[in-house]
Amino acid sequence: MSSQTNNDIVPQVLWGKANELVKDLNRDQILWLGGYLSGVGLASSANGNGSANGHVVEAVANASQAAPADFKLTVLYGTHSGNSKIVAEALSAEANERGVETELVSMPDFKIKKLKSTTHLLVVVSTHGKGEPPVAAEEIHRLLEGKRAGKLDHLKYAVVGLGDSSYLDFCQTGIDFHERLKALGGEALGEPTLLDVDFKDNLAEVKKATLDLFHPAGGSAVAQVEASTEVSANVSPNGIYEAEVLDIIQLNGRGSDKETYHVEISLEDSGLTYKPGDALEIFAHNEEPLVDSIIEKFGYSKDEIVVVDGVEKTVREALIFNREITVITLPVLKKLAAFVQEGDINKILDNRDELEGFLEGSDLLDLTNTFKLSVTAQDLINSLRKLPPRAYSIASAQSEVDEEVHLTIGAVRYSKHDRDHNGACSVMLADRVEVGEKIFVRVSNNDGFRLPEDTSKPIIMVGPGTGIAPFRSFLQEREASDAEGKNWLFFGDQHFETDFLYQAELLKYRSKGQLKIDVAFSRDQEEKIYVQHRIKEKAQELYQWINEGAYIYICGDRKRMAVDVKQAFVEVISEQAGISLEDAETKFSALRQEGRFQEDVY
Ligand SMILES: Cc1cc2nc3c(=O)[nH]c(=O)nc-3n(C[C@H](O)[C@H](O)[C@H](O)COP(=O)(O)OP(=O)(O)OC[C@H]3O[C@@H](n4cnc5c(N)ncnc54)[C@H](O)[C@@H]3O)c2cc1C
Ligand SMILES: Cc1cc2nc3c(=O)[nH]c(=O)nc-3n(C[C@H](O)[C@H](O)[C@H](O)COP(=O)(O)O)c2cc1C
Repeated sequence: MSSQTNNDIVPQVLWGKANELVKDLNRDQILWLGGYLSGVGLASSANGNGSANGHVVEAVANASQAAPADFKLTVLYGTHSGNSKIVAEALSAEANERGVETELVSMPDFKIKKLKSTTHLLVVVSTHGKGEPPVAAEEIHRLLEGKRAGKLDHLKYAVVGLGDSSYLDFCQTGIDFHERLKALGGEALGEPTLLDVDFKDNLAEVKKATLDLFHPAGGSAVAQVEASTEVSANVSPNGIYEAEVLDIIQLNGRGSDKETYHVEISLEDSGLTYKPGDALEIFAHNEEPLVDSIIEKFGYSKDEIVVVDGVEKTVREALIFNREITVITLPVLKKLAAFVQEGDINKILDNRDELEGFLEGSDLLDLTNTFKLSVTAQDLINSLRKLPPRAYSIASAQSEVDEEVHLTIGAVRYSKHDRDHNGACSVMLADRVEVGEKIFVRVSNNDGFRLPEDTSKPIIMVGPGTGIAPFRSFLQEREASDAEGKNWLFFGDQHFETDFLYQAELLKYRSKGQLKIDVAFSRDQEEKIYVQHRIKEKAQELYQWINEGAYIYICGDRKRMAVDVKQAFVEVISEQAGISLEDAETKFSALRQEGRFQEDVY
């Protein structure tokens, strides 16, 4: 594990040296140095790897300020877990550096009428669900379709969309905003910028390119990355930390069909902190046998050299450490379509159902087995997506575990195209990482999934399978803070005997009177029983909790469980309040808007 050669991880010592270097320089000397560093490729890079931070960045950026702007820029963001807020804040700060006054505002706090007096607008918004806006952006997204926004001929705007290209509707909400503002007469300053999961690595270029649309900087601004926070020198400017794995425990009993691991990781001396509701990102490596099969199939030599993000390495290394091969996204498929020698790839590209069916679970080897590809190693590397880290909901609270972080990880193993497939990250932890080894991790904040600030509020948690993870964190936190609010957990899995994850801990909370718990073990009886069935059985009491101000949380499977559980709550409200399902849906949506219904689904 410690042999990772990911370009993203730049030793902190370099930043320290650079900061020391610029400390006593004057403005002209800093500008010269900025240009020099850009020239030798140390301060910036086309892909964001190796970007500068800290004093170096601030000093150079300050020195290259443009003349103050004569307009105010409204930076409007719509976020679920906080990523768009991070980007919006960075863009706003960059604008200020350039002499542009900004108003940074979240969508729920923005009145659509204000668009009439807004002249310069920068929208930063993510996409959730299946190409849908995050809850925070729902209202304004809807209003922009109607007449209320009025004519926007006076408006200059740009849109930055955040998304994940493994979803077919990549950045759809950003695209929607762009199209609607245009249809209302706004002047688009360029096409929308669509950011993928590696947006943190590209922030420097995004800031420069986006702000250049509104107010170009005077000098040669050096690429910047997110300002590093108060973490220790062991953490890279991008927040990445090489952490020791303290324990990996299989949670399912013998004979189970499930494979779930409790993983404990040390954050000792990193200074990294997290809150209940946050996630931990893990930087995985691809399996070597899969990489070797791909290399053989494409007819490359393992030692063939390719350039990856500006650095030379073997194609084997690049496929292990730098490129995603277990998931094929639509943009990757489109790029590789140009290299297909045999097979009708357009048949798949032109049909959404076929496309979805093919992309779900097909890896790079399946792709080249299905459509013969003739592509050079360099073109292949250029076509594949950068290997993104995988997020895991944190299953511990620092009030309980201090400098540790715990996760609950389900090993992804399945068969497709007559081959066994292993998830890159989950199976890396299940099969290839030993206790005591180190892995690269980063904390990912999720402000869209938080305990109520008022600790007296009751909470209802629905977390079957690995969905239990954040609720273990919630419960630890509620206990540590002596929260008076009641806690109710709905947990489910296949079998009571083998799959009751964290059973002892949960029952202990129950015996102390701190937790009400309902379980659904789907395969312990003839008919399948899931958490949504338990929710409907407890309709009366649940409705009482909701009326007492309870917060409802769902975590786990996005495609089936979350949909059925939400429907169950709507039915509970409809039945208990004696109103139509439609009215119950409106009531449920109001809970969401109030932040009293939150999801962490995947
Ligand atoms: C905010 C967030 C929190 C998360 N929290 C957790 C958590 O607490 N615990 C957890 O275990 N996971 C969690 N996940 C999911 C996690 O991030 C990874 O997606 C998961 O572990 C798979 O990653 P991998 O690298 O192992 O698999 P990958 O290499 O990414 O492979 C996954 C691919 O396999 C496909 N696939 C999976 N099963 C099948 C199947 N049966 N048939 C066909 N195709 C299939 C998927 O469609 C996907 O394309 C979370 C995700 C998010 C976004
Ligand atoms: C449940 C879920 C559904 C998602 N659906 C989409 C999608 O349809 N299209 C897309 O481009 N990205 C999708 N994403 C990815 C998010 O847009 C991406 O993680 C983004 O960085 C989140 O930004 P935010 O924290 O500002 O909400 C989805 C993410 C989750 C967790």
